[in-house]
Amino acid sequence: MEAKGETQWSSIIVPSVQEMVEEKVITTVPPRYVQSDQDKSGATDDSGLIPDIPVIDMKRLCSSAAKDSDSEVQKLDLACKEFGFFQLVNHGIDPTFLDKTKLETHDLFSLPMEEKKKFWQKPDEMEGFGQAFVLSEDQKLDWADIFFFTMQPAQLRKPHLFPKLPLPFRDTLEMYSAQVKSIAKILIAKMGEALEIKPEEIEERFGDDMFQSMRMNYYPPCPEPNQVIGLTPHSDAVALTILLQVNDVEGLQIKKDGKWVFVKPLPNAFIVNVGDVLEIITNGIYKSIEHRVVVNSEKERLSFATFHNPGLNKEISPAKSLVEKRKKRAKFKSLITKDYLKGLFSRELYGKAYLDAMRI
Ligand code: OGA
Ligand code: NI
Repeated sequence: MEAKGETQWSSIIVPSVQEMVEEKVITTVPPRYVQSDQDKSGATDDSGLIPDIPVIDMKRLCSSAAKDSDSEVQKLDLACKEFGFFQLVNHGIDPTFLDKTKLETHDLFSLPMEEKKKFWQKPDEMEGFGQAFVLSEDQKLDWADIFFFTMQPAQLRKPHLFPKLPLPFRDTLEMYSAQVKSIAKILIAKMGEALEIKPEEIEERFGDDMFQSMRMNYYPPCPEPNQVIGLTPHSDAVALTILLQVNDVEGLQIKKDGKWVFVKPLPNAFIVNVGDVLEIITNGIYKSIEHRVVVNSEKERLSFATFHNPGLNKEISPAKSLVEKRKKRAKFKSLITKDYLKGLFSRELYGKAYLDAMRI
């Protein structure tokens, strides 16, 4: 068991954007949300098309070996090196079950406000409904509400959050958590195989005590979408993120070669990305890519991110077998996961600044 308080990071409590939008007709954005300095458009390539992120077939991946040069493992390796993002198809999760998960995620945000208040962030806590990484009253806010909580290991769940969610949502999430976690484990193992990291080193970090948290994002429509940002540019400070686009509204953009590019989700696919922790473990060979969310004036957008990290008491550091084999120096400091997370939540989310602070 973890001592009480070890996952007690906090964020300043802010108003619900969803409530603000639903309560009254807003025609101009309140100053606290104005972030008009960034160009919100998505880039296209020379022929006017939106460049596609790689697509990885999970079924093929499971039966492929790194030694075959045109195998799915090699495709995965390339996707992680060059994009840091890919879509995962044929992942084996029943589409009917995914639809149920999406529907119930939507229902969570549709609960009456007095119900949602029970799950609201409390002072000195990070989990629940609210926003993440808000550390000062004059900090600009995102045009979104989130619901964030620890899911695995189960003993770290906050008693007033997941265990109090309505049924059948709780059962759905339990099953979703297990399925997504096993996908994450396979993907990380295959990445390790491609990079010739010793399997024990992967297992040591991503064994049964693997840390999993969930973040559901609700981006209300905005009368002045160019004035705001749904989710500020950031890289994910975790090992691996598996994202489910909940409704069919676009908004996620990734930074590719200095330009913001829209991700166009395929039906039933997951959007997977390498986070900072995998960049550290792979000693910089895999890249965690900056991404952000833009909003629009007509439609709400919902997404559901599941984050995976090494166990809280495990070390985050470049894999030894990798560094030794390639005769490279370690490019990142090593840190225990819980200290890494403490550092993370004590600063504003700002591009890849936190990862940069970990460089040697
Ligand atoms: C996140 C994230 C993207 C999205 O939650 O870290 O990047 O599409 N979400 O909402
Ligand atoms: Ni993210």
